[in-house]
Amino acid sequence: MNKVLVVTYSNTGTSLRLARRLCALKGWPLGEVDDAAPRHGVAGAWRCVLDSLLRRTPGIDYAGALPSEFDTVVLVAPIWLYRLAGPMRSFVTRYRSELHDVAVISVTEQPGPHDAPDEITRITGRAPLLHTDFTGQDADDGRCGLRLLAFAHALVEAKDHVEPTRLVLAPTADQLIAGGLSRPQFPLLPDQDLRSWGSRKVPIG
Ligand SMILES: Cc1cc2nc3c(=O)[nH]c(=O)nc-3n(C[C@H](O)[C@H](O)[C@H](O)COP(=O)(O)O)c2cc1C
Repeated sequence: MNKVLVVTYSNTGTSLRLARRLCALKGWPLGEVDDAAPRHGVAGAWRCVLDSLLRRTPGIDYAGALPSEFDTVVLVAPIWLYRLAGPMRSFVTRYRSELHDVAVISVTEQPGPHDAPDEITRITGRAPLLHTDFTGQDADDGRCGLRLLAFAHALVEAKDHVEPTRLVLAPTADQLIAGGLSRPQFPLLPDQDLRSWGSRKVPIG
């Protein structure tokens, strides 16, 4: 049995939209991280920048179930300056001893590398079970539900069947359409197929 909690922080709404969609698709509960001090205007934007540059853990309010009651927490997290958004860093830091497995959906403006999975590993001492990226454009794509379903399925499979391997799953919507629609249940595929989906399996370090 894999009990999953989805937790998001969202400054401009994209991560919240994705998180709500994932919860609606899977019937998973949602927890929301909010700023203790709202980020308005230019000063708010500068605080975002400084939080990232200095890897600060700004004050947060968390409304949701206790992470310790779940096997896996899916973080739907914006990326600021190639790093985890400050409030999500605060959440992971505050609850690190209560987090069992963590999976991450990073939300960016542009596709590209960033430090979020490594940062979570440094804070919790464990690599995320699964990680994928969405851009704002992906989130608005009508097919994003398909990717979220694939992510959710891979998460359950990874948890139940493939430990102790860590799976990094990053198929694009187009790759999923090309390879996924003929696979009714999005099974966790053998290595060969995972590679063809733009994904890779890596052993736990
Ligand atoms: C301070 C700041 C830094 C950002 N840095 C990046 C970045 O390094 N790479 C990127 O692709 N997007 C970056 N973005 C864009 C956000 O990741 C993107 O807009 C995301 O969708 C925001 O999620 P939200 O709507 O849930 O807040 C940045 C946004 C802010 C406010």
